[in-house]
Amino acid sequence: MLRTHTCGELTEKNVGQEVTLAGWVDTVRDHGGVTFIDLRDRYGKTQVVLDVAAKKDITETFKSEDCIQIRGRVRPRPKGTENLKLLTGRVEIAAGSAKILNACDPLPFEVTKSRETNEDLRLQYRYLDLRNPAVQKNLFLRHRVCQIIRSVLDKQDFIEVETPMLTKSTPEGARDYLVPSRLNPGEFFALPQSPQLFKQILMVSGFDRYFQIAKCFRDEDLRADRQPEFTQLDIEMSFLEENDLFSAVEGLLKNILKEIKGVDLKIPFSRLTYQEAMGKYGSDKPDLRFGLAIEEVSEAVSNSEFKVFKDALAKKNGAVAGICLPEGGSASKKDIESLTEFVKAEGALGLAYFKVAGGKLESPIAKFVDEPIQSKLIQTFKASTGDLILLVADEKPKALKVLGALRLYAACWKNLVSKDVFHFSWVTDFPLFKYNEEEKRLESEHHPFTSPNLADWELFKKKELPAEKVRSRAYDLVLNGNEIASGSVRIHSAGLQKEIFESIGIDEKEAELRFGFLLKALKFAAPPHGGIALGIDRVMTILLGLESIRDVIAFPKNQKAACPVPDDPSPVNERQLKELHIRVR
Ligand code: AMO
Ligand code: AMP
Repeated sequence: MLRTHTCGELTEKNVGQEVTLAGWVDTVRDHGGVTFIDLRDRYGKTQVVLDVAAKKDITETFKSEDCIQIRGRVRPRPKGTENLKLLTGRVEIAAGSAKILNACDPLPFEVTKSRETNEDLRLQYRYLDLRNPAVQKNLFLRHRVCQIIRSVLDKQDFIEVETPMLTKSTPEGARDYLVPSRLNPGEFFALPQSPQLFKQILMVSGFDRYFQIAKCFRDEDLRADRQPEFTQLDIEMSFLEENDLFSAVEGLLKNILKEIKGVDLKIPFSRLTYQEAMGKYGSDKPDLRFGLAIEEVSEAVSNSEFKVFKDALAKKNGAVAGICLPEGGSASKKDIESLTEFVKAEGALGLAYFKVAGGKLESPIAKFVDEPIQSKLIQTFKASTGDLILLVADEKPKALKVLGALRLYAACWKNLVSKDVFHFSWVTDFPLFKYNEEEKRLESEHHPFTSPNLADWELFKKKELPAEKVRSRAYDLVLNGNEIASGSVRIHSAGLQKEIFESIGIDEKEAELRFGFLLKALKFAAPPHGGIALGIDRVMTILLGLESIRDVIAFPKNQKAACPVPDDPSPVNERQLKELHIRVR
């Protein structure tokens, strides 16, 4: 037997037993005649002692990260040398024999300090990085979360179905990864950007409740919260309205947070419409762990003599809006300069600030803001002495965007963001369309299978509502300022689906070519349905309080969308290319 126990299980109960352990050398400490080895495996660490007598038989020397096996007897550690932080910390193994199973090459970095190493090197030697218990832990927790997902959804009659990896393009707004077909010269599969169309088709088949822990592929520019290859918890339900889906997801997340973080989530989650989110927080993924809501004060300052406000309000879409920072009034000149620099970098022309003191406002521009206006501002922000009011005047969407960013910046500055709070909220009623400036056409804000708000759609068709005002039945789930899931009630009628395609410039011929199979399936009595996809990598990153999505993926891609372990992507040989009917230009 290569081992009788793991390195994480021996306690005082095992004292006196003859055991065999195997694992990696975590540390070796030489104390004169006696050598101490901490032996490590996935389960923990156990102290091994090679004393003077034993070392007569054990001639090998051991170094960090060698894979070794030891045999010996479990004994209590001498009084005062116990390590109460470890389950195994009250015992040690007096080694009778020890041997190297496989020696370790010189290490590129110290395994248990891998997180301090530069990321390129870590990713190149990811197998060593993952030997570090602190890094390994993330994958164990990810595994746990996937098990909870499967068990909770199974109990609610969801069925896990695998959908194809070799398929046709699904439009989720990114470029496709293409795979040439050897048997169909000149034709390509696309790796799925999501299982969107297959999950809808499964509803046509009557599966009613589907889920999949699905790999998705998107050839897009990388960011800290994005990977070209990532995993979604993909869900679809039939005969569904928003509330049905929201409560299914809320129940699931409640279970996950309870088990992983010991946190009792309050459900249902808060909800706000896209319009409210943009107006109050300047973002469609507001961080609601703190207040600092945006207030528009255009009306309140409409009589101000301040030129900046006057000019902004004279513009078609002009507005003055701001936030109030509790106890921000102590801000120094330098603090104000930093805040001003920040908003300018975000695209604002400047920042007007007012310190609140005894029912009045203090500011270099206070003279342009007479007392009635000052009172109105104080009232609007419910401000009190010591607070700081920050205003931006601009076109309204720009002012809101800048204030949304300023809100986050100011919250960090004033330490208003609690790290161990998980604030989930639904953002609903997203716009159906967004305008593509480059191509001068409308495109779907979510994806083209999202149902419009039917009342809005009728008005739009009668030209009584402009495109940008048409709401959809799409929703996002936001956690601490991050979009973690996105979904919608779908279109289940082929007729409406065709109208939507037309509105975004996909004519009948193209619709048939790209999505004919969906249109056809919908015509076989597709039920009303809808769903969502939750970014598992993103959720794990946030729950574990990590900086990068790469920390929760076993073999992530680097900034160049490549994986340094096998060193992919890589060239292929001429014969392979020929078989695939491909010539590289
Ligand atoms: P969407 O494209 O919004 O929706 O994706 C859903 C969720 O997947 C995660 N995500 C990503 N995670 C890591 N790297 C990426 N590159 C990446 N892109 C997306 C996000 C996001 O919220 N088919 C629809 C869902 C539906 O309508 O049911 C879809 O894929 O957390
Ligand atoms: P100025 O008249 O440009 O010297 O600006 C006077 C004050 O108004 C400065 O504190 C500017 O930062 C601020 N300011 C300038 N433009 C804007 C704006 N668009 N919104 C809010 N404050 C502004």
